[in-house]
Amino acid sequence: MSQASESLVAPVYHSERVKCLEIFYGEGFLSSEGEAKCKASVEHLKLKAGDSILDVGTGSGGFAFYLAEHVGAVVTGVDYCTNLVDLCNERCKKKVLGDKISFLAKDMRDMQFKSKSFDAISFLGSLIHIKCEEHLPIFTNVRNWLKPGGRVIFQGLVTCDCPASSTQEFKDYRTSLHFNDVTVADYHKLIPMAGLRLLEYQSRKEFYIQDTITRQAKVKENWNQILKVVSIETLEHCFKFFADKRKWAEEGAMFTCIFLAERPRDM
Ligand SMILES: C[S@@+](CC[C@H](N)C(=O)[O-])C[C@H]1O[C@@H](n2cnc3c(N)ncnc32)[C@H](O)[C@@H]1O
Repeated sequence: MSQASESLVAPVYHSERVKCLEIFYGEGFLSSEGEAKCKASVEHLKLKAGDSILDVGTGSGGFAFYLAEHVGAVVTGVDYCTNLVDLCNERCKKKVLGDKISFLAKDMRDMQFKSKSFDAISFLGSLIHIKCEEHLPIFTNVRNWLKPGGRVIFQGLVTCDCPASSTQEFKDYRTSLHFNDVTVADYHKLIPMAGLRLLEYQSRKEFYIQDTITRQAKVKENWNQILKVVSIETLEHCFKFFADKRKWAEEGAMFTCIFLAERPRDM
């Protein structure tokens, strides 16, 4: 595990904040769309029982558990925040999944797996923490780890080239959350460069704004209930997190999207 990188992003996912994010997004989820995202991703990846899946940046494990429990897939969840891997392992003990699921504390930039190990690989909300220039080696590994015809989904935030995204305020916001500057155009360039074939691109912009508004409202409604579980500082911080997300999405500086790609059968 890369200690340098862990010390950068770990504060964003400390246990108290994870607790708070899960109240907003649902148990097991630290990014938008929760269980709806799971169902859609299973369809995108064409998953079936027995498939072997790598979930990169698994967070508190929502998608990984969904895959093992609802699809019958064999899942490896990877995250480099050790508190999150511990949380996933704790939750695992309460379920009867046997060797269907395992969680590893690893930095996605240092991971090693055998060639052609996985039927599918998922990155849900995790690549925003990776610098643009670090994407290509990861995508190249993904191509190598996928079986021919295997699919990968990259879902998450991208930044946009617009007046709002060039402001110092937006840069400070990105820095505070360790969000990097990666655009839709970067993905379109990097996916074929890594030897993957792009199957689909989907903007989730309108949904993302609406989702953020709904979650902000939910927090306000349940403010006193939530305060029984987390401190006022954490709650205010998380509320600001949603308010900022909405602001920057409405100003066009960032939004979520999906890239679906495959390892071509003939390569
Ligand atoms: C926004 S959360 C998404 C978590 C989960 N996939 C979800 O949708 O709820 C991003 C996750 O990526 C993980 N992450 C960020 N950089 C990583 C890296 N270099 N290697 C492994 N995991 C990383 C973070 O620790 C965090 O759990």
